[in-house]
Amino acid sequence: MIIKSVNLETVCGITSKLPENEFSEFAFAGKSNVGKSSLINGLISRKAYARTSAEPGKTQTINYYKVEYREKSQKEIEAQGLDASYAQEKSVYFVDLPGYGFAKVSMETKEKWGKMIESYLHTSKPLKGVFLLVDIRHKPSANDCQMFDWMVNSGFSPVVIATKLDKIKRSQLSARVKEIRSTLGMKSSEVLIPFSAETKQGREEIWAYIDSKNKE
Ligand code: GTP
Ligand code: MG
Repeated sequence: MIIKSVNLETVCGITSKLPENEFSEFAFAGKSNVGKSSLINGLISRKAYARTSAEPGKTQTINYYKVEYREKSQKEIEAQGLDASYAQEKSVYFVDLPGYGFAKVSMETKEKWGKMIESYLHTSKPLKGVFLLVDIRHKPSANDCQMFDWMVNSGFSPVVIATKLDKIKRSQLSARVKEIRSTLGMKSSEVLIPFSAETKQGREEIWAYIDSKNKE
């Protein structure tokens, strides 16, 4: 995917009114430090546009990134003799959500955030896709399972992204994927994509999913 432009358009705190956007939205949820902001940077091909940190709890607002993209570059279209429609510019919003399970905030703040994330997922009309991120090295937590169930019960078809793929050996991959799928109780029709922000493995598959939903 070719990124034409990126703009952090809206930042919402706990009491902010959420914006009404005209383009499709894709939301990224998951526990603190799992790699939500890093995944967004990987998708938009920017090193540090979305702020990341080794300390959990970096993102404490709902951040809307407007992304203009197209499927192929002019060069690729010419070289591969592709249809000119591949050059068409399209727009989406990536919605970076605060992480759940961040230990340093009070119970009250946690609850407020939980409510805001829930209310966002329930009320956003242009929301076309929801990603739930889990660390590929670990068995999903009770919070992850709760979030997955809640998304499914709310009518979403969440796509699970298993992050930090570069941190495991290739030989461990299928066992890790199996454990994550069975712990979350994923059906075989539900999608899991391993991703690494270091190597960008998984990027094109995630973009293909986003672009297909943006067409619907
Ligand atoms: P919060 O905003 O606190 O909820 O965290 P987040 O989910 O946005 O995580 P963030 O993207 O800030 O990443 C947390 C840490 O994990 C950072 O130190 C990243 O560099 C690291 N990280 C994220 N993705 C990857 C990855 O694919 N591979 C490796 N090796 N490190 C990663
Ligand atoms: Mg973040």
